[in-house]
Amino acid sequence: MKLTATINGVRRTLEVAPRALLIDALRDAGYTSVKRGCETGDCGACTVLVDGVPLASCVVFAGQVEGRVLTTVEGLGTPDRPHPLMEAMVDAGAVQCGFCTPGMILSAKALLDENPDPTAADVKDALDGHLCRCTGYVKQIEAVLDAAARLRTRAAAGGGAR
Ligand code: FES
Ligand code: FES
Repeated sequence: MKLTATINGVRRTLEVAPRALLIDALRDAGYTSVKRGCETGDCGACTVLVDGVPLASCVVFAGQVEGRVLTTVEGLGTPDRPHPLMEAMVDAGAVQCGFCTPGMILSAKALLDENPDPTAADVKDALDGHLCRCTGYVKQIEAVLDAAARLRTRAAAGGGAR
């Protein structure tokens, strides 16, 4: 079957198996930032944004996102032009193996899109459900708060937020 959706700002039509999971459709299409962890919706590694809302792509059929707007970390930035959330994660030392990081960044982006000036408790809530086996959870919260500040500074300077 065919799946047509806007992925990272580009309208794409993917050929997918009828009962393919969204995680497989995306990874097969090259969006390998979408990580396969638990496959039961419990670890957050496979999180993508669907119409701006974080969803575990391992428990969603590809066919369920027909016509929707999808965002993976590939759509946020690149090594040459990183999103402030990416920069802040690195600067805070919140990335070790990096397996959990794309999903956390996307949940954090959804939070900051709704609330540009969150509290640490807000960030903690937004990252609830994302498991990290390496770093503990303090540095990611610091990183999201730092990214929020960077984005507010950029917006105040007229640069807009991504
Ligand atoms: S792989 Fe989907 S939530 Fe863990
Ligand atoms: S950095 Fe390794 S799982 Fe989080």
